[in-house]
Amino acid sequence: MVKISKLRIGNVKLENPLCLAPMLGVNCTAFRLMCHNYGAGLVYSPMIHSVGLVKAERNRDVWIDFVKEEKPIAIQIVGNDPKMMVESLPYIEPYADIIDLNFGCPDKDILGQKMGAFFSKHPEQMSKLINAVVSATDKPVTAKIRIGWDSQHLNQANAAKIVEDAGAAAIAIHGRTTKQRYSGNANWDAIKQVKDKVEIPVIGNGDIRTAGDARQMMEKTGCDGVMIGRSAMGNPYLFKRCEALLMKNKRLPDPTTEQKGNELLEFIELYHKIQKKVKFPELKQHAMWFCTGAKAAADKRRAIMRVKDEKKLMAVIRKEFKI
Ligand SMILES: Cc1cc2nc3c(=O)[nH]c(=O)nc-3n(C[C@H](O)[C@H](O)[C@H](O)COP(=O)(O)O)c2cc1C
Repeated sequence: MVKISKLRIGNVKLENPLCLAPMLGVNCTAFRLMCHNYGAGLVYSPMIHSVGLVKAERNRDVWIDFVKEEKPIAIQIVGNDPKMMVESLPYIEPYADIIDLNFGCPDKDILGQKMGAFFSKHPEQMSKLINAVVSATDKPVTAKIRIGWDSQHLNQANAAKIVEDAGAAAIAIHGRTTKQRYSGNANWDAIKQVKDKVEIPVIGNGDIRTAGDARQMMEKTGCDGVMIGRSAMGNPYLFKRCEALLMKNKRLPDPTTEQKGNELLEFIELYHKIQKKVKFPELKQHAMWFCTGAKAAADKRRAIMRVKDEKKLMAVIRKEFKI
């Protein structure tokens, strides 16, 4: 049985070790808040480009979309210029409990700018960025990395030590290489090697689909926290299930279709209440994700895909989920 101690990152104490992974295009304010309400101990913002924060005034207003109810939150920035990263801090510090640095994004565009997972090839270069940010803020600074560039070049333990020595308060490790992007299995042995190498808290990430997986990841790797990405999409209830199993040793049942429908309605209500700007395509996308786990999910998704406005979306949801 895994022993869960309360995860502490710098001066930030988490209620539990369950983290919502940073996900661009997914983690809108309402989704983060719902995951928080359903038991996530820490939510991450999507990555925000540090240069964009400093220079793109109009977009800044769109990205800075944080509310106090979702705290504690880790706000993630990506970049490769220490000066720009430091200059971006004043825009996020008022909202962030933790500043997270992205060293794991495998997107072509980001790699082309020598950012994100570019550092999985050049881990020593992370030092100056982490150092600069740590020196410029009182908030705990964390880093999210991958296990290496490709399967021939796994360097996660070395990279984690670099992150620790540069002053980071914790490290999140996605158990895939940059070349793998999001495919194949996450390598939990590699996560264990990181845990064995560093003293700072380690948050394991990759392939947690169930509460049982969360518990197994902690047991197998010894990691201090777990981070859930894709399996949380349309499924904040996963955090309730993980919390029940990890903290109370209780197994919660699979959600019923009616429950999925009600959770979707709860999300839509929250979205309208909290989101700075209502974007129908975003709402519709979340609605499709919430179908996963319901009966005849593919039919439900197809019906939702066809709707063109919110009135029709609500009618389809009520019909499809029989609520
Ligand atoms: C749609 C999507 C967007 C993502 N955006 C980010 C991001 O902004 N920053 C980041 O560090 N990782 C990002 N990731 C990676 C996730 O945080 C996570 O590391 C990855 O999905 C593996 O976890 P999982 O197996 O639980 O999905 C993203 C992943 C997905 C699927």
